[in-house]
Amino acid sequence: MMLIHIQLLGTGKKVSAGAIAGSVVAGVVAPVLGILLFLFYRQRKAQQNALLPSSKESTRLASTILMQKVTASSTQAGIASLAAGITVDKPVEFTYQELFNATEGFNITRKIGQGGFGAVYYAELVGEKAAIKKMDMKATQEFLAELKALTHVHHLNLVRFIGYCTESSLFLVYEFVENGNLSQHLRGTGYEPLSWAERVRIALDSARGLEYIHEHTVPVYIHRDIKSANILIDKNTRAKVADLGLAKLTEVGGASLQTRVVGTFGYMPPEYFQYGEVSRKVDVYAFGVVLYELISAKDAIVQSTDGSASGSKVLVYLFEETLTAPDPEEGLKKLIDPKLGDDYPIDAILMMTQLAKVCTEEDPKLRPTMRSVVVALMTLSSMSFGI
Ligand SMILES: Nc1ncnc2c1ncn2[C@@H]1O[C@H](COP(=O)(O)OP(=O)(O)OP(=O)(O)O)[C@@H](O)[C@H]1O
Ligand SMILES: [Mg+2]
Repeated sequence: MMLIHIQLLGTGKKVSAGAIAGSVVAGVVAPVLGILLFLFYRQRKAQQNALLPSSKESTRLASTILMQKVTASSTQAGIASLAAGITVDKPVEFTYQELFNATEGFNITRKIGQGGFGAVYYAELVGEKAAIKKMDMKATQEFLAELKALTHVHHLNLVRFIGYCTESSLFLVYEFVENGNLSQHLRGTGYEPLSWAERVRIALDSARGLEYIHEHTVPVYIHRDIKSANILIDKNTRAKVADLGLAKLTEVGGASLQTRVVGTFGYMPPEYFQYGEVSRKVDVYAFGVVLYELISAKDAIVQSTDGSASGSKVLVYLFEETLTAPDPEEGLKKLIDPKLGDDYPIDAILMMTQLAKVCTEEDPKLRPTMRSVVVALMTLSSMSFGI
């Protein structure tokens, strides 16, 4: 029997999928998109058709426009690889002692955070800043083979995997990305509000990272845990996707783990959540949720104002409800992150909303590829001044 574990957003708790599937499925079978788009975009149809193609059209468009993009992407990956220097071509196997020294004995003051797989520590290793993830699992041979393959994946918009250690526990070593994650930038304290242009650039950066693993790696990777906490921000406010390969690794790696759904509640599409069906469209759905977060700065699960669990809502459904209401544009304005003030082009927000909507289609076939998403976001970025 398939063992299904789901990480509750922000809590690290695992719960049975069956217990929550009912409510989610009910919400997922949402009102028909055609009516929604017709009502919402009736007046903008001509303009937006030119700007943002439907998923089918955009796939066609992708084949022409993206020929340039693919070249750009490969070049970018090449540059990333060069920038990465000598550390990445071969997996580095560290000793426990090296990691221990680099973290002052896994000192609590070095702890950056705690995720579903274990704790993360800041380290200084061979003169380089690193993040060490101490996994709550042991490595198998298959796991190690997967890990080694991962070290060949380089892209500017992917957090670089430096190496690992299998002594006493499993440790994964990544490049340190110094400016927190997207969730913290949108909702945490101590960060300047992100401008609209920065949000679009973060979306495009992360889309490029995802497009790269979907289209240009052998084997192809499906991330399966795309969320704002797994999009890290560097000092230039550029984004990098973190935890690539982790879901796949846990599938083959843990001695006690059978096939399991790995993901975070609020970001998982129905086919994955219910049946464990994995395709690239799982990531596209989760990316759509991240787009909604960029627009609204709301969590993937929006807590009710009175704090009751029964009143909380999945962000996707909150947007769907708004977009199917009699005055969708008015409703949407209420969902826009107040920290943006009036400093955004409304057409660009409408376009990002439409893109998020199509990414979070219930039927995976109706969701665009990440290639098409990149094309749409490039168009959007050209509308979003200063990018
Ligand atoms: N390479 C890194 N550089 C800097 N900070 C990192 C790095 N990797 C993770 N972090 C930070 O460490 C914290 C914990 O990350 P972790 O990936 O373990 O948990 P998560 O992303 O919240 O959940 P999940 O386990 O589902 O990925 C997060 O705040 C994250 O931003
Ligand atoms: Mg993470």
